[in-house]
Amino acid sequence: MRIDILTLFPDMFRGPFSTGILQRATQNKLVCINIHNIRDYTHDKHHTADDYPYGGGAGMVLKPEPIFETVETIKKEGAEALPIILLTPQGRLFSQAVAQELSRYSQLILICGHYEGVDERVRQHLVTDEISIGDYVLSGGELAAMVVADAVVRLLPGVLGSAASPLDDSHTSGLLEYPQYTRPAEFRGWSVPEVLLSGNHAQIAKWRHEQAILRTLKRRPELLDKASLSSGERRLVDNLSTHPAAKESP
Ligand code: ADE
Repeated sequence: MRIDILTLFPDMFRGPFSTGILQRATQNKLVCINIHNIRDYTHDKHHTADDYPYGGGAGMVLKPEPIFETVETIKKEGAEALPIILLTPQGRLFSQAVAQELSRYSQLILICGHYEGVDERVRQHLVTDEISIGDYVLSGGELAAMVVADAVVRLLPGVLGSAASPLDDSHTSGLLEYPQYTRPAEFRGWSVPEVLLSGNHAQIAKWRHEQAILRTLKRRPELLDKASLSSGERRLVDNLSTHPAAKESP
């Protein structure tokens, strides 16, 4: 996959993209991330990328010309039909399902909005999608672009050590993830649940699935409406909902 990110603050991406899983994915050529400084596509001597809003009002608005030019330059080098995504609090809400959807493309363009916003013509005539990472306002789209890139790249084949691991993630099945433990089996008097030490894989899988349901019911009950559960699992949810004594581990 190739990800092109348009920003006024390229330095912000140095840390997150040169450590951990994103760095490894880049080194292993599973993803190529290009950061483009929007200012490099301006033509005046002050490299003006923003201007006052028509009609007045506080703040500055990102100008359309350098954003169009950056995207057009990228498109000449890359795929024909590719998502051009503006990161904005006005976009559709990002989720694991959206990350999975985006991970199927061979190229993405992410545009980081800034200041009071972006000239509306960028929205109307250039971008194909708008994404928000949550109902709060960041000072720019950069952190949102990092969140989207991270969530998408870890889904690409070969990026995580084991092919099975993204399937177990919270949200992939519509449920939150079950509790995890590692050694020691007893720490400060708190023991690891017996079943995990039993070696009985069927029992362990059953326990984990129940814990995932319990945890979801307790913390994010609204997710259960959309989760794909068997009729037995639905009964379990109904039972647990009517018997709140049911306990999440630990
Ligand atoms: N830019 C500012 N706030 C944002 C948000 N919540 N999501 C995406 N981009 C943003």
